[in-house]
Amino acid sequence: SFPTWHDCDPGSDDAITLLTLLGRSDVQLLGVSTTHGNAPLSATTHNARALLTLAGRDDVPVYAGALAPLVREPVYAPQIHGVGGLGNVPLPEPTRPVQGEHAALALIRQLCAQPGEISVLATGPLTNLALAERLRPGVLREARQIIVMGGSLENGAPRLGNTTPRAEFNTYADPHAFDVVLKAGAKLSLIGLNLTRQVQVTRQRAQQLAAVGTAAAHTCAALLDDYLDRIGKLGQSVGALHDPCTAALMLAPELFGWEAARVVTMTDSGERLGETVRVDGEPNVQLVTRADESGVYGLITEALRQLP
Ligand code: BDR
Ligand code: CA
Repeated sequence: SFPTWHDCDPGSDDAITLLTLLGRSDVQLLGVSTTHGNAPLSATTHNARALLTLAGRDDVPVYAGALAPLVREPVYAPQIHGVGGLGNVPLPEPTRPVQGEHAALALIRQLCAQPGEISVLATGPLTNLALAERLRPGVLREARQIIVMGGSLENGAPRLGNTTPRAEFNTYADPHAFDVVLKAGAKLSLIGLNLTRQVQVTRQRAQQLAAVGTAAAHTCAALLDDYLDRIGKLGQSVGALHDPCTAALMLAPELFGWEAARVVTMTDSGERLGETVRVDGEPNVQLVTRADESGVYGLITEALRQLP
């Protein structure tokens, strides 16, 4: 089984990730922590709670985390996810209150209680993970693995970002936190845009999810349709299924290919802020380079079938 922690900023693709985890009987979800990111912290926290209510899983605690990045000002992504983070997709009112403990403290407590056992999935800006590492240096090394969606790398050459011409959203939203996590010496897997662009979002994929028939699957299909509507207005007809690749990598690593690499983030303000670059030197990540697109969708589909 997979003792798991999900740090997120839901966010339509974060939502699909969380529901996929909840649909798996072999995932023991120890906690969900929220961060500023696609929307302000109050919205992402509300969304995480509402998703747990949708899945009938109010046993899972939600911890609110960072209101803002370590150094820079917050940036949100309303053009992709709507101002509230989940577009126009309706969700139930959350029934369980948020925990009193801060996300970074809860993550430290949990990692120290089960050293070497917990997989941490990080699908938003990395502020909470960086705060945990700053408060207790070395704590991220207690994770069994940390799977991060962030950055954009292709064979050593930077590829176009999705937020600036050079930066991916999660790295751009808190590049200093990303830097802390890259330097923590943890067992880190990195899923960047170079990978997630291999797992495309299309109307057909949304229809396939809807056909599963559960409320959770309908919600995920509606989230993909809302996302496609929004990127359509920006002139794109095909999207990328970013965050769910983290859950798929944990649950079915055979669907992916990776290589050891050394990756750094640009933290100097300017046009390269948040850019990720592969450099020579000792590897600090498993850089995920290939994905089996149908396999990833198959895994999500089966998980959503198990939910209400
Ligand atoms: C990442 O940015 C967010 O908008 C998505 O939720 C994903 O985590 C993709 O760049
Ligand atoms: Ca996200």
